[in-house]
Amino acid sequence: MSEAVLALPDYRDLSPELQERFRAIAARETILEIDGVRKDFAAPKGAQPLPPVLGGVSFEVKRREFICLIGASGCGKSTLLRILGGLESRTGGEVRMNGRQVDGPGADRGMVFQEYTLFPWLTVKQNVMFGPRMAGQGRDPSEAEALQWLDMVGLSERANAWPHQLSGGMKQRVAIARALANSPPILLMDEPFGALDAQTRCTMQKHLLQIWKNVDVTVLFVTHDLDEAILLADRIVVLGARPGRILEIIQVPVDRPRHVGQLLSPHFLATKKRLEQLIHPDDPEDLPIIRMTQVGDEAEEPGAMRAGTRNGSGT
Ligand SMILES: Nc1ncnc2c1ncn2[C@@H]1O[C@H](COP(=O)(O)OP(=O)(O)O)[C@@H](O)[C@H]1O
Ligand SMILES: [Mg+2]
Repeated sequence: MSEAVLALPDYRDLSPELQERFRAIAARETILEIDGVRKDFAAPKGAQPLPPVLGGVSFEVKRREFICLIGASGCGKSTLLRILGGLESRTGGEVRMNGRQVDGPGADRGMVFQEYTLFPWLTVKQNVMFGPRMAGQGRDPSEAEALQWLDMVGLSERANAWPHQLSGGMKQRVAIARALANSPPILLMDEPFGALDAQTRCTMQKHLLQIWKNVDVTVLFVTHDLDEAILLADRIVVLGARPGRILEIIQVPVDRPRHVGQLLSPHFLATKKRLEQLIHPDDPEDLPIIRMTQVGDEAEEPGAMRAGTRNGSGT
């Protein structure tokens, strides 16, 4: 979209309401501290050492904040999230959850992945009860809690279904309910809607915002989808690749409550343009013209395509 047609505001230009919201968020307690996190993977024997995947990443997440982590494919988003979840070791730096060093998985960090990870041998309800049962809670209170979370994600009627009987969107709603059933202060989500079709994805984004509004939980959400990040986040942490590092942290200048109608608002577009500059700086505006058709085969714009012929270079 040309700026001559639509003058975009500065993406750093926040409404007074948003300035106030970010001031309030900054004053809240920090729940997750990511401090100089590095990750190197060992190269195969005899091969050149690999560049670090994460080259010292630091930021803080405040209580009840919604953070999106965005970056091109391969820049280390999943590696960072797995380190925060305690599923992957780090080579350097520290991660503290509520002030305590993270050194393994824990019920204080709920995880939801892109791949469907429900236990196929358990019903929907049993999947959601799993965490509380493992934590030593009795069958009846676990069941009551599971039904409450299934209600929250709109799936109480499917409580006795098996995972294979559910659509992709429903499976991810159960996965969210299962993660929330442990009452974690934070949800770590790695492209949870990445495998869903566009329309289901849109519905899931709406659901997630509604859940976040109604549950005392902080969200750290990985995506490579610019619209998704802007629609969901308070702040977007933009990662660059090789080594993975923070390029910028953007305070999203779009008012809440969010809805898809905002996708074309000037502040939304200004933010999207900035994200594109950061994430795809080398994308060419136009493809190079390499001609593989015969003159006379033009499918569109015959005048433009014949220009070469008129210049005497086409025959
Ligand atoms: N176990 C591993 N061994 C070696 N390299 C890995 C391993 N896991 C991931 N990587 C590399 O780390 C980089 C970041 O991967 P990943 O965190 O999955 O990126 P993203 O989620 O942003 O697409 C990639 O270049 C990937 O090849
Ligand atoms: Mg990934």
